[in-house]
Amino acid sequence: MLKLGSIMSTWNAISIKQMKGRQKLACLTAYDFSIAKLVDEAGIPLILVGDSLAMTMLGHETTLPVTMDEMVHHTKCVSRAVKHALVVGDMPFMSFQASEDLAVANAGRIIKEAGAGAVKIEGGAPRAHLVKRLVENGIAVMGHIGLTPQSVHQAGGYHVEGRTAEDADRLLADARALQEAGAFAMVLECVPAALGMEITRAVNVPTIGIGAGPDCDGQILVVHDLLGLQTELSPKFVKRYATIGDSMTDAFNAYKRDVESGDYPTEEHSY
Ligand code: KIV
Repeated sequence: MLKLGSIMSTWNAISIKQMKGRQKLACLTAYDFSIAKLVDEAGIPLILVGDSLAMTMLGHETTLPVTMDEMVHHTKCVSRAVKHALVVGDMPFMSFQASEDLAVANAGRIIKEAGAGAVKIEGGAPRAHLVKRLVENGIAVMGHIGLTPQSVHQAGGYHVEGRTAEDADRLLADARALQEAGAFAMVLECVPAALGMEITRAVNVPTIGIGAGPDCDGQILVVHDLLGLQTELSPKFVKRYATIGDSMTDAFNAYKRDVESGDYPTEEHSY
């Protein structure tokens, strides 16, 4: 039986939306059970299972190759770990572009099979109709504008977006269209800080910035970047809070030394 109020003890699309102007939202990605559990226990309110997992977890050069099945698999792992945060599952490249029916079916998988509380879709005004349709079908949607990595080939690489007045106006219109369509929040990726502030002031849903300046309603980072687990690519917006990659390398080297020298295992580790 449905326990009234039980769902409200966790973060959800409505409570995230209500944080606008009240509390900055510190959001993170996660892709597996162990890290998602730690992120959730740290009180992070929104965990994105981003399609960035194509690069961080699967070793691809871009986000494009990750499949729906892979996204569902990783989102399931995160959902199993999370007790409080809102889990947002990313819609991968070509899971929503070909038709709205396909998009509804795939978003449904992220919610129904993978246990997420919302989906994220890249794109602005051209996706507004789809966002509206998903919302009408009971699916909470987070938008994503600015640099949209799924368009990397069309854009000729990864660039800061919205530097010209024309591009800035287009992004403002995108943000308004997403809000109008019912998105509960939107990611602003790699836009000038002044535009991040302007869009944040123009919409009544939280803007979650990544390289969009300090005035967004929240921030999001790829957890591998924050932890120093992935150091090859380091965009300007990344702040590294730990050097876990170095600690892991030290641990692997120490283990190898111990096994080779016979210092591990000892009696203490034996039955
Ligand atoms: O896929 C992802 O991790 C993202 C964030 C960088 C916002 O889209």
